[in-house]
Amino acid sequence: MKTLLTGDIAVAADHLKRSGLVAFPTETVYGLGANAFDEAAIRRIFEAKERPSDNPLIIHIGSIEQVKEIAENLSHTANDLIAEFFPGPLTLVLTRRSSVPDVLSAGLDSIGVRMPADATAHAFLAKCGVPVAAPSANLSGRPSPTTWEAVYEDLNGRIDCILQSEPTLIGLESTVVDCTADLPVILRAGAISLESLRETVPSILVRTADPTGAPKSPGMRHRHYSPNARVVIVRENEKCENSSDGGYIGIDSPSTEFRLSRICNSVDAYAKSVFEFFRECDRSGIKTIYCQAVPETGIGTALMDRLRRAAE
Ligand code: TXA
Ligand code: MG
Repeated sequence: MKTLLTGDIAVAADHLKRSGLVAFPTETVYGLGANAFDEAAIRRIFEAKERPSDNPLIIHIGSIEQVKEIAENLSHTANDLIAEFFPGPLTLVLTRRSSVPDVLSAGLDSIGVRMPADATAHAFLAKCGVPVAAPSANLSGRPSPTTWEAVYEDLNGRIDCILQSEPTLIGLESTVVDCTADLPVILRAGAISLESLRETVPSILVRTADPTGAPKSPGMRHRHYSPNARVVIVRENEKCENSSDGGYIGIDSPSTEFRLSRICNSVDAYAKSVFEFFRECDRSGIKTIYCQAVPETGIGTALMDRLRRAAE
């Protein structure tokens, strides 16, 4: 298959409307989109990404009115979170309408819904006119793509079109909140922090590891965000062995030399560049990447979550 590269939103939306798979930017990471009601196209997303079929996709919408096309019986909390955080880097797990294909939600009776804030994403979704199912546009298990070039690296020849745009603003995936239980639960940390969610929903819970091994968010079972290189998290004052041939990313300058290093001037900048740095290290054959630990507040919580998963 030939993958079309285009900066033209109307051309990209046209591919999607004709059952194509189209990668598009959002403020978190690039997504791989298909018409949410087109079951054959949804199946092709799983194939193109080599994604396990038990890991549900989230649906992206261009307007708040579209929520009711895909979800029903919204709780007060869900409505409050929509009013406060849509559009933005927040995914809500809601009760699925039966018109949404089973394959999309991996058979669950719930559905993840997100309305991106990125201007290109918004214009693209508006042109598509239908809800768009979209996981991150990487091969399953690889770091999420924060540039269109990273999408091309993983999916060229496997998808119909890439909508070319700027590198993504945030660089880590959305916060996922399950609103189907009595009390809402954060299933995945992201750019919308626990602290800011608590201002709207003081009772919100954070998912803890389930001893029965049955996580509520199926995706959390699978290997994630990993470069080919080994990832090592370094705390303050810890020494990195064999550093001269490794990579380093962090806020503070390291005391030793690295083959490739990235010093970020804030935790936000670190979050924004970490996945691309992982890919850069893989391209230059680096075997070990040292990542400085950060305090777990704000986006630092999501960054540490991704670093731990990559280091597993
Ligand atoms: O920022 C993002 O969320 C990006 C952009 C493209 O929007 N998308 C993204 O999608 O990260 P994906 O598929 O890579 O991650 C979605 C996560 C997975 O961990 C999945 O298991 C979980 O959301 N999820 C989706 N639907 C769910 C549901 N019904 N119940 C529980 N978890 C769900
Ligand atoms: Mg993903």
